Amino acid sequence: MAVITFANTKGGAGKTTAALLLTTELLHRNYRVCVIDADPQRWFSRWYEGAALMPRLTVDTYVSAPTIQKIVHERRSQWDFVIIDLPGIQSPLLASAVGLSDHVIVPIQGSSMDAQGGAQVLDLLRYLDRKAGIRIPHSVVLSRVNPAITTRSMQAVKRLLCEQEIHVLDTPIAERGAFREMFDMHRPLRKLEGPQSGGGEKAIANAEAFASEVLSLIGTGAAQAPAYASTRRMPAFDTAA
Ligand SMILES: Nc1ncnc2c1ncn2[C@@H]1O[C@H](COP(=O)(O)OP(=O)(O)O)[C@@H](O)[C@H]1O
Ligand SMILES: [Mg+2]
Repeated sequence: MAVITFANTKGGAGKTTAALLLTTELLHRNYRVCVIDADPQRWFSRWYEGAALMPRLTVDTYVSAPTIQKIVHERRSQWDFVIIDLPGIQSPLLASAVGLSDHVIVPIQGSSMDAQGGAQVLDLLRYLDRKAGIRIPHSVVLSRVNPAITTRSMQAVKRLLCEQEIHVLDTPIAERGAFREMFDMHRPLRKLEGPQSGGGEKAIANAEAFASEVLSLIGTGAAQAPAYASTRRMPAFDTAA
């Protein structure tokens, strides 16, 4: 059905957390989800290996640039959603993965100091559009946002993105203890036990709103593979530029 990639060439931006939140919310809504863990550090795979069996979820691990295209093509016909979690470094995987995506989500921490890794992804998407006419829908999600205050740096990041006509999700992902605990406990957010330091119900409401917004972006058009998905020819792009 739809391929959604989480990309930011900086580690710690919140890619895996956002990918895990979307995945578990989609499972909660009875979708079947395949996650492609393209990060050699295997954060998503490690979470999955320690978690209880989830019959509607599979995780492909050790996926690299030479193998990603074949795997995505196979998986997209078999699963409702394919979610690609990319590493936090510049890698040839970035161009391959975005070229296979129906939507790219770029988590950017609500602090301008950390926006650079996101900017590299947005540069690549702009380059593909201008030089090759390949338009890949994409959005920024502000991540690790302090739920209590709107910081000036976050407003600055938002303004900058708006000026560049980059779509920013209405729902930011808050910094919450419960989102960290999901990883530590190897559980979906809704299966955490006991009072969470980060506020369980607020965390669930945040994840729910994030997933709903992503689903509304994907829309019904994602029910079929885009005609260009198998024929996109990606121009060379130096992500180090
Ligand atoms: N919204 C959040 N609330 C609390 N902790 C977070 C949040 N997002 C990320 N983290 C923590 O920050 C670290 C890096 O996040 P991660 O999602 O792995 O980033 P990335 O995949 O971009 O490298 C992890 O320890 C994770 O638990
Ligand atoms: Mg990660």
